[in-house]
Amino acid sequence: MKNFCSAFLVASLALTACNNTQQNNSQQESKTDSTKSETMGALDVKKFQQIIDGKPTNLYVLKNKDLQVAITDYGARVVSILVPDKNGKQTDVSVGFDNVDDYTKGGDTYFGAVVGRYGNRIAKGKFKLEGQEYSLATNNAPNHLHGGNKGFSRVVWDAQQPDDSTLILTYISDDGEEGYPGELDAQVTYTLTSNNELKIDYEATTDKATVVNLTNHTYFNLNGEGNGSINNHLMMINADKFTPVDSTLIPTGKLESVASTPFDFRKPTAIGARINDTNSMQLKYGKGYDHNFILNKSASGLTKAAEVVGDQSGIVMDVYTTEPGIQFYGGNFMNGTHKLKSGKTDDHRTAFCLETQHYPDSPNHPNFPSTRLEPGKVYKTTTIYAFSVKK
Ligand code: GAL
Repeated sequence: MKNFCSAFLVASLALTACNNTQQNNSQQESKTDSTKSETMGALDVKKFQQIIDGKPTNLYVLKNKDLQVAITDYGARVVSILVPDKNGKQTDVSVGFDNVDDYTKGGDTYFGAVVGRYGNRIAKGKFKLEGQEYSLATNNAPNHLHGGNKGFSRVVWDAQQPDDSTLILTYISDDGEEGYPGELDAQVTYTLTSNNELKIDYEATTDKATVVNLTNHTYFNLNGEGNGSINNHLMMINADKFTPVDSTLIPTGKLESVASTPFDFRKPTAIGARINDTNSMQLKYGKGYDHNFILNKSASGLTKAAEVVGDQSGIVMDVYTTEPGIQFYGGNFMNGTHKLKSGKTDDHRTAFCLETQHYPDSPNHPNFPSTRLEPGKVYKTTTIYAFSVKK
C-alpha cells in the first residue's frame, strides 16, 4: 500500500491524503470528519489525472519551507495554497475542488483559473480592431465574460515543472478561437519564492493584432477555505479611483473618485463595513463589490495594489502587480451549490478575488489603457501574492 501511494502521490500535501487513507480504516472512519481541518488541502493526485479533450491532466505542487501551492494544468488553476496562520496551523486560503471532474462541472465560478484571452467583460461581445468588427460569445448575457464559453480556464495547458518552486504552463490559442483574431501563444509561470510569494508571470505573443487581458481568478478566504464570511477581513486597495459600471457590469467609461464612497479602501477597512450601503447604486449593480479599481502608480513596474488580513487567522496577503487595475470581486455570486475540498460549501461571500488586470471592456474605451497586442510585441505582466502573518 505504501509503495502504491508513493507512486501516485507527489508532495506532502498529497502524502497526507495517502497516510490518512492508510490510517482511516473502518474503525477510524468517523475520525475523518473531525480531523478534516488538519488534512485540509490534502489532495489525491490521482483525482486530477484524467483525459480532457484528448489531453492528460495532472496536479503539481510547489513548495518551500513554509508554503505549499497545488496547481492543475486544467485551466492553469490554483487548487490550494497552504499557509501557516498566527498559531502555525497550516491553513488552505484558496477555494477549490479536490478533483478535476468538479472543475469541469464548476459552472461559471472560475475557481483558481487563469482567465483569458480577455479577463472580465467585453460589452455585448463586440469590439473593433483595424476597422474589422469581432463577435465573441455573450456567455454572461448580454456581455462576453472571461474569454468565452471555454476561454483559457476550461482547456488543458501544457505543463513543465523544472524544480520544486516553478511551474511553467503554456497554451496555444488558435486564430479565431472564441472569436478572437490571431494565434496567441500564452505562457503562465507560477513561482513560489523563498519570501513566501506566489509570483505569476504572464507572457503572450500573437501573429495578428488582437486583444489580451490575462489574470488569475483565485478565490481567497484568509481564515481558511469555507471558514465563514470574508466581511471581517481587513482590506486595503491602493486606488484613488475606480471604474463605475452600468447595470450589466460594463464600465460607463468614467473614472470616479473613491472618496466618500464605499469604494474607499485606501485605509484598511473591513470588507463588509459598508456593503449594505443602500445609497450606492454601484453596490446595487454589483450585488456587492465587483468593480475595477484604478491603481495608484507613480512608476511602471511592480507596485503594491492591495493588502488583506484574515481577522481570525492573522494571515496577511499583499498583492503587487505591473497591471493598471484590479478587480475586487466579493463572492456575490457564490451560492453554496458547490462542495469544496474542505468538505464545506461555497456559501455567499465566503471568498474574494483580487484579479489584477487592464480595465474591463477596454477594447471599447479608447480612454482606458490599451489591451491591444501587435505581432512582434511581447505581452508581459507580473503579479505577486505575498503571504505573511500578523501576530
Ligand atoms: C468575476 C466577475 C464577476 C463574476 C465572477 C465569476 O471576475 O467580475 O462578475 O462573473 O467573476 O462568478
